[in-house]
Amino acid sequence: MAATSSDGRRTDEDLIGRADLNDVEAILAVVNTDTDSRFHDVGADVDTRFTWDYERARPKLGKLYEKAKLTQWNANDLPWATDVDQEAVVMANAALSASSGLAPMMDLSGTPFASWGDKEWVEFGVESQNWTLSQFLHGEQGALVCTARIVETVPWIDAKYYAATQVMDEARHVEVFSRYLDEKLSGHYPINAHLQMLLDDIIADSRWDMTYLGMQIMVEGLALAAFGFITQMTTEPLLKALLRNVMADEARHVAFGVLSLQEFYGQLSAAEIRERQEFAFEAAVRMRDRFLQQEVWERMGVDVRQATQFLLQTPERDVFQSMLFSKIVPNCRKLGLLDAADGWLRERFTELGVIQFEHWEDTAEELAVA
Ligand SMILES: [Fe+2]
Ligand SMILES: [Fe+2]
Repeated sequence: MAATSSDGRRTDEDLIGRADLNDVEAILAVVNTDTDSRFHDVGADVDTRFTWDYERARPKLGKLYEKAKLTQWNANDLPWATDVDQEAVVMANAALSASSGLAPMMDLSGTPFASWGDKEWVEFGVESQNWTLSQFLHGEQGALVCTARIVETVPWIDAKYYAATQVMDEARHVEVFSRYLDEKLSGHYPINAHLQMLLDDIIADSRWDMTYLGMQIMVEGLALAAFGFITQMTTEPLLKALLRNVMADEARHVAFGVLSLQEFYGQLSAAEIRERQEFAFEAAVRMRDRFLQQEVWERMGVDVRQATQFLLQTPERDVFQSMLFSKIVPNCRKLGLLDAADGWLRERFTELGVIQFEHWEDTAEELAVA
């Protein structure tokens, strides 16, 4: 039975299945047990909306649509002939990182990594690449499906036009990540259970604006930040070029979410806005949990519980994790989601340690379409 707080609101336990954000047992209890299936079906009860109002009434969305038409690119034009030696990439990336080494800069005694030498850290780096790119691939398919949904459900003609260009963008993103994994890396991972839960929640929701909030603001906002981080950190030229192209598309996708929801949220009641805040928080926690990469530890035969506990304490992870929210937080602020309901989401983002990004530029401003 769902517990609610004294004011009748849903508690953290209702929203994310645990009272303590760092409850490792609860995080690890979420596992993907359906890894042999080729398909995954999600039911949804949505109305497809036709509009007979073809007037181009939303010039900002129109501007974004024009940009999208002019900046299409072909996956085949990336430098696919580049030879990728995964182990060499792990070592070259490590040489450039702050720690200038393969292991995190902290005391490893008493951890599952105490006995690890360079060989294990390189293997871990290679598995991390396989895992990270696999999750990007699955996330991109989520975006493909969500954007096709938006074409159907959004009531505005300008938004249908724009969303149609995004469907093409996302097909291209699935294509490039899939090809990179197949041709350049050494293994695939099934979708992470936390990411799957989030995509399922987004796609099962019948309200058209929730597709936008979950995908354009949360998932794509995080992807934009993560791609930016990896573009800066990686020494691998094909991945750099690939991510640069994908990021240019993603910035438009996030701006599309900001512009559309800004207009729509103006019409919502306080109770409806509160539901959006809760959805944003739930999505934020799912995405944070997914980056604990529990599947990598499993594959490497490391005690998952101990590894996760350890990872939660490393300073490198702290920096990486908070940086992932550098696009999401300013965009939520722009949408009025931080301060509505007495600052409920502001408090949650403070708990997650990411509120410091609130005054960063939002993505619509950044793209000069605001
Ligand atoms: Fe994408
Ligand atoms: Fe996207």
